[in-house]
Amino acid sequence: MGDRQIFPVQTNKTLTDNLATPLLPRYIKRSKTILSARTMPESFSPEKNASFVVLTGAGISQESGLETFRDPDGIWSKVRIEDVATPEAFARNPDAVHSFYNMRRARHKLATANPNAAHVALARLETEWPGEVTIVTQNVDSLHEAGGSQNLIHMHGVHSMARCTGCQHIVDWEGDMTTAHVCHVCGEPGGLRPHVVWFGEMPLELDRIQAALMDCDVFVSIGTSGNVYPAAGFVSIVQKTCRAHTVELNLEPTLGAANFDEGHYGPATEVVPAFVTRILGTL
Ligand code: APR
Repeated sequence: MGDRQIFPVQTNKTLTDNLATPLLPRYIKRSKTILSARTMPESFSPEKNASFVVLTGAGISQESGLETFRDPDGIWSKVRIEDVATPEAFARNPDAVHSFYNMRRARHKLATANPNAAHVALARLETEWPGEVTIVTQNVDSLHEAGGSQNLIHMHGVHSMARCTGCQHIVDWEGDMTTAHVCHVCGEPGGLRPHVVWFGEMPLELDRIQAALMDCDVFVSIGTSGNVYPAAGFVSIVQKTCRAHTVELNLEPTLGAANFDEGHYGPATEVVPAFVTRILGTL
């Protein structure tokens, strides 16, 4: 596993285990289509009612002005995960954690005005493709919504909400969050935290994600380095279970590029619209 981060180990294991057996009959039923897709990826043409799951990461928002995490000048080159993105960090120094997320929330609010051509192309795919299109994003920005996507799962939460660590109430949030804020439901002082998933915590909506993965014909991974689980394991899950056709769209091939049936590399604003146009052109 090298220096890969696990996010979190238990969740990855549970998701894989749960998905391991039930899809065998479906996989056999589909094997003919799958074989042609695998031998001729460039000519891959999904069935008209094919379901897509599109996993996105920080790279899709980079051209809207947001930093990625692991590129050379990315966020994790400037701050340490252990200082700002774990429950332990929040318990130890809530002011430092709030300050980091207040800065990011402000940046994301500005960027929300600028969904880029990749976000817009995915919304177009959802509108025009006859089958189901589910976007599972690791991003906590709201650029997919701004681009017009509706069938969207924020597996790592969102910057635009706060959660009470006491009663778990979730509330829309704008502007800075501090330890002076009080939950208006339970009155717990200092308990509000960003509604984002930190390292060591359970990602959100895993049941819905699992259902979408189990039912997908095409899995597309966009702008994610594949360092954080369980998202990094989705490609092998769909290959082992429903045998979906798998596609990587990224600035450059990731370490896991060989796991995908096809890959297209360049800025998201170019490769994503081109991919969507190609898929819609098969209709
Ligand atoms: N177009 C396409 N891809 C890009 C672009 C671009 N303009 N710019 C960068 N990329 C690619 C990078 O090459 C890299 O592979 O996007 C990827 C970004 O990877 P990361 O920075 O690791 O971001 P991500 O994979 O989303 O991180 C996952 O890590 O810290 C956590 O919770 C955080 O959700 C995040 C998770």
